[in-house]
Amino acid sequence: MSGFPFLKYHGTELFVESVSLDKISQEFGSPCYVYSRAALTNAYREMDAAFSERNHLICYAVKANSSLAILDLFTRLGSGFDIVSEGELRRVLKVGGDPQKIVFSGVGKSSDEMRAALLANILCFNVESEAELILLNQVAKEMDKIAPVSMRVNPDVDAKTHPYISTGLKENKFGVPFNEAEKLYFSGENLTNIRMTGLDFHIGSQLTELAPFSEACEKVLVLLDRLEDKNLKIEHLDFGGGLGIRYSEENPPSIQNYIAALCEDLGDRAQRILVEPGRSLVGNAGLLLTRVEYLKHTSHRDFAIVDAAMNDLIRPALYDAYHEILPITMNGRDTKNYQIVGPVCETGDFLGHNRSLALSQGDLLAVMSAGAYGMSMSSNYNSRPRVAEVMVDGDSIHLIRERESIEQLFSNERVLP
Ligand code: LLP
Repeated sequence: MSGFPFLKYHGTELFVESVSLDKISQEFGSPCYVYSRAALTNAYREMDAAFSERNHLICYAVKANSSLAILDLFTRLGSGFDIVSEGELRRVLKVGGDPQKIVFSGVGKSSDEMRAALLANILCFNVESEAELILLNQVAKEMDKIAPVSMRVNPDVDAKTHPYISTGLKENKFGVPFNEAEKLYFSGENLTNIRMTGLDFHIGSQLTELAPFSEACEKVLVLLDRLEDKNLKIEHLDFGGGLGIRYSEENPPSIQNYIAALCEDLGDRAQRILVEPGRSLVGNAGLLLTRVEYLKHTSHRDFAIVDAAMNDLIRPALYDAYHEILPITMNGRDTKNYQIVGPVCETGDFLGHNRSLALSQGDLLAVMSAGAYGMSMSSNYNSRPRVAEVMVDGDSIHLIRERESIEQLFSNERVLP
């Protein structure tokens, strides 16, 4: 079983904390995302504790899973947030998140988004280009505000991850080119409504080694020291997110070792440390519950057609990502080599290839490690309503998102008069 804590077979039945997944499907149907409150809490606490005495702020990357109940839980634990849109800002504010713990990332912030974030009085904008810096200054001036800025630099480091989620190479669209960053920091001094407060980088996602983090960190610290030598006071250093999780055979560093390595790289520098973890806090705290609709045996292949599809969990289709798939009830029958596919009309609509499972029509399956970039990347493709989400807490089950209705799908559409 992959790195999913609080998931266990009791006899032949799979449980999340003290609740059987079968019971969840009876109450809430399928497909359905299921999260463990204990797993979310523990991951956050493990990271928080790893900083020990360091002045730090964990800014959970909202994009990984932006459901209100998850944001609320992290708010209660004291977390800050890394947002990338006004929508994410509004979600965080909705659950009472502290604006002074919000950082705003992203290469394409609009002036409206800047206004909303300035109005909310967020901790800082992670700026990614000179053009963005100039616009932010202008917007802040119009509002008679000072925008706190951290420059996201691109350290040109190979994160050794899937090319779609690698962001720290010079050919990627992200960050200010490393050798232009210093100049930009000082141009910021002439922009009256900008205050340079931080320095940050984010080199990619699902990193399973420490070396790329350290390589990036080393480069960025050289820049930090140069800025400070020139009397620019940098209050915080933001290391971004990116720590990988175990989907199958990966062996990523533990949260504790990852944070310890960052702290060590930083040495005795006094800056506050920020991190923007997404996947490492939520990925293995959630699964997607799905039911086998049909079995289809052809001369070439055995297909299990399930009720979840690429619109519910796009990672396999988009990145060829592997998610472990477990039976909810073990039945001891002979296994077959199944292609686990959804009902969407695309050959790319699969959740897993070549899975050895003993299946019957109507069986329930758990698609593991689906807490990050699952629900938040889901869509209505094929006019499929978004699925329900539940949070297990000990022996209680809380419905945190109702299954979308068909009516909701087209409630804001109009036909021509
Ligand atoms: N900070 C920034 C600026 C980011 O762009 C990201 C993720 C994070 C933090 C959080 O990274 P994490 O700790 O979750 O690795 N949809 C893809 C992942 C895209 C990641 C985008 N940026 C997937 O399903 O694998």
